Amino acid sequence: MRAPKNMLVTGGCGFIGSAFVRFLLRAQGSVARVVNLDLLTYAANPDNVAEYATDPRYVLVQGDIGDQALVARLCEEHAIDTIVHFAAESHVDRSILGPLVFVETNVVGTVKLLEVVRARPGLHFHHVSTDEVYGSLGPEGLFTETTRYQPNSPYAASKAASDHLVRAYAHTYGLSVTLSNCSNNYGPYQFPEKLVPLMILNMLEQKPLPVYGDGLNVRDWLHVDDHAEAIWAIVTRGARGETYNVGGRSERTNLDLLRMLIDEVARQTGTSADGLGALMRFVADRPGHDRRYAIDCDRIERELGFTPRHDLAGGIAATVRWYLENGGWIERVRSGAYRQWIEANYGDRDARAA
Ligand code: NAD
Ligand code: DAU
Repeated sequence: MRAPKNMLVTGGCGFIGSAFVRFLLRAQGSVARVVNLDLLTYAANPDNVAEYATDPRYVLVQGDIGDQALVARLCEEHAIDTIVHFAAESHVDRSILGPLVFVETNVVGTVKLLEVVRARPGLHFHHVSTDEVYGSLGPEGLFTETTRYQPNSPYAASKAASDHLVRAYAHTYGLSVTLSNCSNNYGPYQFPEKLVPLMILNMLEQKPLPVYGDGLNVRDWLHVDDHAEAIWAIVTRGARGETYNVGGRSERTNLDLLRMLIDEVARQTGTSADGLGALMRFVADRPGHDRRYAIDCDRIERELGFTPRHDLAGGIAATVRWYLENGGWIERVRSGAYRQWIEANYGDRDARAA
């Protein structure tokens, strides 16, 4: 059993990292210090942790995981005993358009962090990764912790490389590490390039709802707060050197999930589900689009006693409510760089229609 006291969280202003920081500061009284190291890229928003901005336990540092001198100084100054590593480029579509930054951040950035940990053998390092490293499933079967790696997108390949490096450092240099490979997260504070917030916000603005390909690709959905709890279970109770798959046992086709979102937005805004459904557009498929992900989460349930608290219907209803009630947050993240990028790369989204 590990008892983290002074923690360095990388990427703690992103979607999942910020959920983890809020979870630590809200629910883990034994944690004395949370240092959030985040480069504040387009995907970050310090507002995601605004409620703890003045908490004496919390420190936000704008910086790069690749800055070894900075990371070493933070570990020294704050007597860090545990690093939880979320920072990454995380969007598959962006990795298809421009893979290099994914290698720079996800692979080289992770190695540079590991180099700092190598000089501090007492530190525990938890690496947050994805089910996408396992590739794509047919209609049957589940990803287990021993499924062969077969990443298909530049994003997935960069995460796979980082997983291998974490394991190799642990094996070669005797570092204390744990790893988790999780399915698709949804919930509040997710940047609106990803499916769930993109669809909700487009519905609210009466914009087209772009469905890639035939919409029958399957994802397994987990509420982000459940992911935060799963990571805590692994960091504190997971076996050294081991990997745990995390999932929600909530497989849905994209079309089924979109119909759920449409019904929920219609219900909460008092608009017509048929009218929102008419916004749906089948557009050209994502190149190399993985057909199905599904996680066998037996290990984390059996060994660490973790099960998700949220069921998908309740979690989606709460998520829609959050986006309806947080217009200010949405406006801030949708301004500037994000808009320019969308216009430059997806201005012709409808022109790509199949
Ligand atoms: P995100 O894109 O919302 O946030 C990433 C954060 O990392 C941002 O705050 C960004 O500023 C920061 N960052 C990027 N480069 C950095 C650098 N060089 N130095 C410091 N900070 C940097 O991502 P997310 O969806 O919260 O994903 C977090 C982690 O979880 C990633 O490692 C991702 O691969 C993994 N993951 C995500 C999902 C999902 O469904 N979103 C599922 C499984 C695993
Ligand atoms: O499985 C875990 C992964 O889930 C994480 O590792 C990634 O960081 C995270 O981004 C997510 O990847 P996906 O590619 O599955 O998520 P995304 O929200 O981009 O897409 C979900 C599905 O919806 C996918 O099949 C593509 C489809 N899609 C997506 C968008 C943005 C659409 O049909 N239309 C869209 O506009």
